[in-house]
Amino acid sequence: MPVETVDVPVARPYPVVVGPGLDLGRIVSETLEPNLCAIFTDSTVGPLYATRVQGALERAGWRVAGTIEVPPGEPSKSMEAYTDSLRRLASMGLTRDGTIFALGGGMVGDLGGFVAGTYMRGIDLVMLPTSLLAMVDSAVGGKVGVDLPEGKNLAGVFIRPRLVAADLDWVATLPEREISNGLAETIKMGLLAGGEFFEDLALIGAARTGDIDALQKLVLESVRFKASVVAEDELEGGLRAILNYGHTVGHALEAAADYNLPHGQAVAAGMIAAANLSRERFGNDLTGVHEDLIGTAGLPRRVPDVDIERALLAMGRDKKRSAADGVAGQRFVLLEDIGRPVRNMPASDEQVREAIGAIVE
Ligand SMILES: NC(=O)c1ccc[n+]([C@@H]2O[C@H](COP(=O)([O-])OP(=O)(O)OC[C@H]3O[C@@H](n4cnc5c(N)ncnc54)[C@H](O)[C@@H]3O)[C@@H](O)[C@H]2O)c1
Ligand SMILES: [Zn+2]
Repeated sequence: MPVETVDVPVARPYPVVVGPGLDLGRIVSETLEPNLCAIFTDSTVGPLYATRVQGALERAGWRVAGTIEVPPGEPSKSMEAYTDSLRRLASMGLTRDGTIFALGGGMVGDLGGFVAGTYMRGIDLVMLPTSLLAMVDSAVGGKVGVDLPEGKNLAGVFIRPRLVAADLDWVATLPEREISNGLAETIKMGLLAGGEFFEDLALIGAARTGDIDALQKLVLESVRFKASVVAEDELEGGLRAILNYGHTVGHALEAAADYNLPHGQAVAAGMIAAANLSRERFGNDLTGVHEDLIGTAGLPRRVPDVDIERALLAMGRDKKRSAADGVAGQRFVLLEDIGRPVRNMPASDEQVREAIGAIVE
């Protein structure tokens, strides 16, 4: 498949370019005038790809002031790493007309994007997502930020990258587990979108083994779907919340497992719980479809070692609060059918307990 582009039609639209063997220098130059820039990455992705990216940029006329490399993994998405990165940019002499190239997975995009969105009140950002999760989800839509000790993603801003360029060849070095984690978000969007995208989830098995055509199709469909949602509701006043399908329970499972559970696995189990709640609410039966897709993606259908009470507590459904002041707890995105999400659905404590109980080993 040739390289393809999806435009994210927000107030200042930006292109998302997806394909194998991207000519990065040319793609970047079509959007931005060459200038001073910095590459932001982690110490797994940096050694693999930063030199090649720097070479391509330099051949296109860019001057690279330096590369900032943070340790890989969620702990780097911190205020400490954020402050440190801002100071490194300042000492490199990056100016207001400079650009940050965020080369990495979702952690790098969230942290590097927050740095770009706030350094000197905001400089240009190019997202170069290297994980499947970042390609299908986090690089598009402009939510960036860091975690606090009190919880995930508690500090951040909305930004607009100038360009997103996803080279599918980067997936070749991605551990299999990370491919599965990215596929969880693809499954989520296919279930929300329905229609042809849902039919194309049949490509998940091929995508999991690294088939470039299957990956490209699924990345493009995910990006198109997310772009259409973001175009309607960029700042998450309403519709964008459907992208939290499977995430209400998913986040609670992550918190209850002290974040030792991969996000993709938590979301996969969370979607099965949401399918169970959807059955209660609408009398449909989508659980089997969910379980088949999740299994094909190489994700477990049940999560181990999660304390149900802790998960309920993380959702504001601990016994004390609901008994004392009638707090209803979080609401859910449910599916009336494939392609027909409904937001803001309430569920009783008993239903939630049962839905979580069914996905915990
Ligand atoms: N902003 C958003 O809208 C949004 C949406 C979803 C998730 N997120 C955030 O994204 C983060 C998760 O993203 P992630 O799953 O990409 O995690 P990640 O960035 O930590 O990457 C996972 C691992 O894969 C490695 N890696 C990435 N690309 C690689 C490649 N091509 N080859 C070899 N190794 C590679 C990384 O070094 C890391 O060890 C979380 O912090 C989550 O909160 C943000
Ligand atoms: Zn997610």
